[in-house]
Amino acid sequence: VCVCVCVLSFPVGTAFADWLSIDLQSHAYEGDRVVVRCSGKDNGKIKKLMYYKDGSRIATYSSASSYTISNARPSDSGSYYCKSDKSLLYFFEETEGSRTQWLTVRELFPAPSLTVSSLQPVEETSVTLSCDTRLPSERSWTPLQYSLFRDGHTLKSRSSSGFWTLALRKEDSGNYWCEAMTASRSVSKRSRQSYVQVHRIPVSGALLETQPQGGQAVEGQGLVLICSVAEGTGETTFSWHRADTGERLGSKSQRSWRSELEIPDVRESHAGGYYCTGDNTQSPIQSEVVNITVKIPASHPVLTLSAPEAHAFIGDTVELHCEDKRAHPPVLYSFYHNNVSLGNISVPSGGRASFSLSLTREHIGNYSCEANNGLGVQRSEEVALNVTEPPPKTRLVNGAHRCEGRVEVERDGRWGTVCDDGWGLKEVAVVCRELGCGAAKHTPAGLLYPPLAEEAQPVFIQVALCNGTEEALAECEQVETFDCGHDEDAGAVCEALYKSL
Ligand SMILES: *[C@@H]1O[C@H](CO)[C@@H](O)[C@H](O)[C@H]1NC(C)=O
Ligand SMILES: *[C@@H]1O[C@H](CO)[C@@H](O)[C@H](O)[C@H]1NC(C)=O
Ligand SMILES: *[C@@H]1O[C@H](CO)[C@@H](O)[C@H](O)[C@H]1NC(C)=O
Ligand SMILES: *[C@@H]1O[C@H](CO)[C@@H](O)[C@H](O)[C@H]1NC(C)=O
Ligand SMILES: *[C@@H]1O[C@H](CO)[C@@H](O)[C@H](O)[C@H]1NC(C)=O
Ligand SMILES: *[C@@H]1O[C@H](CO)[C@@H](O)[C@H](O)[C@H]1NC(C)=O
Repeated sequence: VCVCVCVLSFPVGTAFADWLSIDLQSHAYEGDRVVVRCSGKDNGKIKKLMYYKDGSRIATYSSASSYTISNARPSDSGSYYCKSDKSLLYFFEETEGSRTQWLTVRELFPAPSLTVSSLQPVEETSVTLSCDTRLPSERSWTPLQYSLFRDGHTLKSRSSSGFWTLALRKEDSGNYWCEAMTASRSVSKRSRQSYVQVHRIPVSGALLETQPQGGQAVEGQGLVLICSVAEGTGETTFSWHRADTGERLGSKSQRSWRSELEIPDVRESHAGGYYCTGDNTQSPIQSEVVNITVKIPASHPVLTLSAPEAHAFIGDTVELHCEDKRAHPPVLYSFYHNNVSLGNISVPSGGRASFSLSLTREHIGNYSCEANNGLGVQRSEEVALNVTEPPPKTRLVNGAHRCEGRVEVERDGRWGTVCDDGWGLKEVAVVCRELGCGAAKHTPAGLLYPPLAEEAQPVFIQVALCNGTEEALAECEQVETFDCGHDEDAGAVCEALYKSL
């Protein structure tokens, strides 16, 4: 018994080192699964198994078990050994110790470095960022994934390549870093931060142009105001203004050097000066003022006739006036009679055109006119014109036929007589011609054609002095009545030809 007691009192783990063996690889990489396996010559006898690292106990098992480091770290490097209590003869136990085994856990890859092609890039130019690290040659097959971050935001997540090309904006300025990790995420490492300051180029050279070009708008049609800037990066805010009032017509923010504002239905009131501004830095650049002129298409020509109540007599001269007050000049006015062209008049100042007609019976009918200024063509309403025989101004009364009798003339709707002072064949010839009768034959006294003119009837002409070629008595020189009674009324006899109508 004494011997046994003495055996039990031996210092732990030295005398029986061969009984418990330790199995542990000497090298591993970060993220590896490393198993430390201690086993005895007869594992069934193990009552307690303790694992030690660098002299400190790290695990205790009540039977044979291995110790697993599932995700190795460099800090797991060190010296490992185990001790075991094993049963010996009935209730006796003794302690066995293993050899010490060294483990070195190497870094799988160093922390990546983020390389930025420019730390002060100009906005919208390409910036390349690359996240680089190195795997040891015997682990070069390990797939790595890369992520990119800025100020706590993930920009690119777990891409298989650590190389990115980005067009950055001013708002994208900030601290960038990247991360490399194994696909299983067992090892992940971050780069240092790099501050990227993105520079904005302010807009310059604002220019306002129009469509149609030159600010020549047409009423009722569309007008596009095109604002452009010569350079500038990032989002540009365009706005359009009237020069006179400064009123803002619209505003658009775009990542472009050009923007359009459309006025779909141009009115006359849209004429005036316009400018636009472009801005990407809170200090707008203004264009020059462009004058917009609004041309008005020919639209509502109005035809008027100089004849009162559209009624005229053969031989009258009638003026046709066609007017389109608003049409932009020049205007070509065309006149139509029963839809047949009568004539075309170009009026440089627009306004109105006049067309004269010396009326014949053929001129009865409907008239219209058209205004055309190249922007629009419009026909007026039709105006009807009636042309009739002019009422007679001279007549022969109480004769056998209308070409013989006492001479009477009309003034202001009243019929009066002609004194026979100087009354001769020349005067009769004129009367005959005026009435469409035949040749002059006699110069009888009016008394020959009773009844006499009534007392109330005036004697209008004392003396008519015709040279015989006049078309009407009214054309002859006349002396107003000063002293003549109806007993001196003149008469006339012509050949009885009827005026053909
Ligand atoms: C625009 O019109 C105004 C007045 O109508 C004139 O003074 C100015 O010179 C014009 N500007 C241009 C660029 O035609
Ligand atoms: C002239 O033409 C228009 C349409 O082309 C028609 O409405 C009108 O009746 C025509 N007038 C005459 C007199 O033919
Ligand atoms: C007026 O112009 C039209 C179109 O050009 C033409 O057809 C017409 O014959 C012209 N009229 C006269 C009277 O010249
Ligand atoms: C003139 O127009 C009217 C209707 O507006 C029509 O009744 C008439 O027949 C037309 N006259 C001629 C000569 O075409
Ligand atoms: C023209 O006037 C005459 C006399 O007033 C009338 O008899 C005729 O009906 C008129 N013709 C037209 C087309 O109006
Ligand atoms: C006759 O009188 C008319 C009208 O007054 C005139 O035009 C014409 O020249 C005169 N003829 C002669 C031959 O005197």
